[in-house]
Amino acid sequence: TRVLVLNGPNLGRLGSREPDVYGHQDLDALRQLLETNAPDGFDVDVRQTDDESELIGWLHAAVDARTPVILNPAAFTHYSYGLRDAAALVTKAGVPLIEVHISNPHARETFRHTSVISGIATGVIAGFGFDGYRLALDHLSRISTTL
Ligand code: DQA
Repeated sequence: TRVLVLNGPNLGRLGSREPDVYGHQDLDALRQLLETNAPDGFDVDVRQTDDESELIGWLHAAVDARTPVILNPAAFTHYSYGLRDAAALVTKAGVPLIEVHISNPHARETFRHTSVISGIATGVIAGFGFDGYRLALDHLSRISTTL
């Protein structure tokens, strides 16, 4: 089973960006962590973009190929209806899309308390650092017979 792990804007700066919030590990470390710990039979494709259009294109491709998605929409979480509509195409097609946040946005600024993605996501994991992505993968492996 292929899984897309999609990361939104500024997550390419992991490691140096607000390490007190996001930790000291960079995106390559996340990629390695997920590739080396991928559940049996899972092929994990970790991507990052600052470009809303590119992210939406990846979601369209996920719909067409019925590829489960783990999505950290980063700041797009809080305002991008375009991304929400694209993410809704995935879940409405019956393909899981798990929203992941490294930090716990609810413990931060008020503007981070709103997610326009959560209402159409299959589920949400927040506040567990990089472990959140692994928890999401773990869930997908548990439901792998339905994927
Ligand atoms: C984030 C939380 C968002 O509020 C923020 O804009 C990010 C990262 C997280 O992973 O904790 O860029 O999605």
